[in-house]
Amino acid sequence: MKTIQLGASHLSASAVALGIMRMDALTTTQATELLEAAVDLGINYIDSADIYGGGRSSEIFGSALKQASVQRDQLYIQSKGGIVPGKRYDFSKEHIIAAVDGELQRLGVDYLDAFLLHRPDALMEPEEVATAFDALQASGKVRHFGVSNFNPLQVDLLQSELNQRLMINQLQFGLMHTGALDFGFHTNMQDDRSIDHDGQMIEYARLHRLTIQAWSPYQYGSFAGIFLDNPKFPELNAAMQRLADEKHVNKAAIATAWILRHPAQFQVILGTMNPKHLRENAAGAEIELTRQEWYDLYLAAGNDLP
Ligand SMILES: NC(=O)c1ccc[n+]([C@@H]2O[C@H](COP(=O)([O-])OP(=O)(O)OC[C@H]3O[C@@H](n4cnc5c(N)ncnc54)[C@H](OP(=O)(O)O)[C@@H]3O)[C@@H](O)[C@H]2O)c1
Repeated sequence: MKTIQLGASHLSASAVALGIMRMDALTTTQATELLEAAVDLGINYIDSADIYGGGRSSEIFGSALKQASVQRDQLYIQSKGGIVPGKRYDFSKEHIIAAVDGELQRLGVDYLDAFLLHRPDALMEPEEVATAFDALQASGKVRHFGVSNFNPLQVDLLQSELNQRLMINQLQFGLMHTGALDFGFHTNMQDDRSIDHDGQMIEYARLHRLTIQAWSPYQYGSFAGIFLDNPKFPELNAAMQRLADEKHVNKAAIATAWILRHPAQFQVILGTMNPKHLRENAAGAEIELTRQEWYDLYLAAGNDLP
């Protein structure tokens, strides 16, 4: 399993992580099997959030961790908070600390390796978040911090008051979700793709040594479905299949390898709850695409190059 260094830290993590957003659909026995399959593959990073399955996903993971032949310290366990579903985003000190306490209890662990703020809160007071992070770190409940779905200026604003260096920004990214790249190719043009939706987050992350975690790597649109084997994307599937045949892997591995080929050193968050799919998808961390293969896939996904 390829590894990456997280942010500016010395933590070495697997290039693919297991996201447990959908784990509420599993029994503890199924979750245990999935966790053991992940560790066998060399995956040492878990991503959850307090809202996944209304908290149930983290609970099932916690039960699986107790049953599995896996020790807590073999894993980096990350969770996210700051969303009150359907009501508001909440980066108040009380909410952040309560979110972490809730996750520690559900996951059955006494510390998180990383805690991320899930979506930007327009009412964020960076000084207040800083007091929450300090308290969480001082109490040993959280070791590292990050954000999710933030743009570069939002990162800067928060970072300006923090005593800890932010390590991660989690963003949707994959072959059918490449807005953060399209803009770079179309700079100084007048077409739609020249519009910057993301504030050049990839360049920012490279300059500031922030790891981008790519969420929903096989989805298109906003949870519209996955593009693997989807008849809506014949050219992309044909291009992935050609490379998969050459490299003796599955198409999903090609889609994973496409993200990992980027020099920003993304970490890919895999959301499958099926151990067989997990093995297929993670195989992308064992192969390296050439520059031309990477561009061929980008074009097959319906993009153009000026
Ligand atoms: N920060 C955020 O705002 C945010 C938002 C969404 C998600 N996330 C994180 O990202 C993780 C991944 O998200 P996701 O679940 O949407 O990502 P995903 O891995 O792109 O999609 C998962 C879906 O694809 C299917 N799938 C995966 N591999 C497959 C394969 N080889 N063949 C056929 N079907 C396959 C899965 O079905 P099976 O289970 O049947 O394989 C599942 O329905 C989440 O668990 C969460 O940790 C973060």
